[in-house]
Amino acid sequence: MRVHILRVLLLASVWSLCTGAGDWCYQSQVSCESHCKGPDLWHEVHADCKKSRQSPINIVTRKTKLDDRLTPFIFQGYQQAFTGILKNNGHSVAMSVPHQATVSGGNLGTTYKAVQFHFHWGENGGPGAEHTIDGEQYPMENFKSLEEALKDPTGVAVLGFFYEESRSANKKYDGFIQALAKVQTPNTNTTLSGISLSNLITSEANMTKYYRYEGSLTTPSCTEAVVWTVFEIPIPLSKEQLSAFSSLKFQDGKPMTKTFRPVQPRKGRTVYRSSGAAVLLSVTLLLGCVCSSLGLSQLY
Ligand SMILES: *[C@@H]1O[C@H](CO)[C@@H](O)[C@H](O)[C@H]1NC(C)=O
Ligand SMILES: *[C@@H]1O[C@H](CO)[C@@H](O)[C@H](O)[C@H]1NC(C)=O
Repeated sequence: MRVHILRVLLLASVWSLCTGAGDWCYQSQVSCESHCKGPDLWHEVHADCKKSRQSPINIVTRKTKLDDRLTPFIFQGYQQAFTGILKNNGHSVAMSVPHQATVSGGNLGTTYKAVQFHFHWGENGGPGAEHTIDGEQYPMENFKSLEEALKDPTGVAVLGFFYEESRSANKKYDGFIQALAKVQTPNTNTTLSGISLSNLITSEANMTKYYRYEGSLTTPSCTEAVVWTVFEIPIPLSKEQLSAFSSLKFQDGKPMTKTFRPVQPRKGRTVYRSSGAAVLLSVTLLLGCVCSSLGLSQLY
């Protein structure tokens, strides 16, 4: 009996140690020493993280609804070269987009300005994308989010792209991948010039097939002000290029890997698809793919 009580006490003290105050972190960083709050506890960092319109979600393609209003996007400044600052922010690697690239069309309802671009990935090119399609997790996903516009329920639009492992390197990503070596540790940054949206995302012709739903930011504050667009056609990157992301480090010096939030309940939300987007008969169609995305804020 005494032994039993002792064990309960011990468990209680370990529990309180592990749930001590701390910053938010990904599940891969959770340990008793780290004191950080993994995805299950993000609502303690920000209450919105347990609201009912959260992202990412699993997109079940046969449950998506065709929406003819989901027309092609209109980009301004898609080809225009800019100089951006690439930064390891301790949770991901992000690049600000300082020029006036805008996106409209696609039933967004307004014109959005490109603000920031960031990534989510797995471990050495393994599954790591946040959104999943028919339960399949792509290796990586990147998006641009616009934190200033978060007060408006449609203040932020995020364009999500998957990455797919390709046999050969994607030359358009060479400069970007090389720059990752300069931001290995948190709070370091490097300047990248000659970058354009056309380097970072797919061709305009390949952005006509997509899914649309209303969700949230996928990190605390988890604000529910995001119009999500998830593109079907992935961006190709070689295994070596994908693995370069895993050479980045978290604050504790451990490899920055598995930087994704688990999928959240859809809770009755409808996911719409553009007319070109596929309803998959078999998930094997998408095996071996990776993921990325781009964030936009309302311009007016
Ligand atoms: C980039 O790093 C430099 C040197 O550490 C620092 O002074 C600067 O504020 C950083 N810039 C950004 C945008 O973080
Ligand atoms: C567009 O998608 C097709 C099919 O996935 C791919 O072969 C092609 O390389 C893509 N084009 C661009 C410019 O990304």
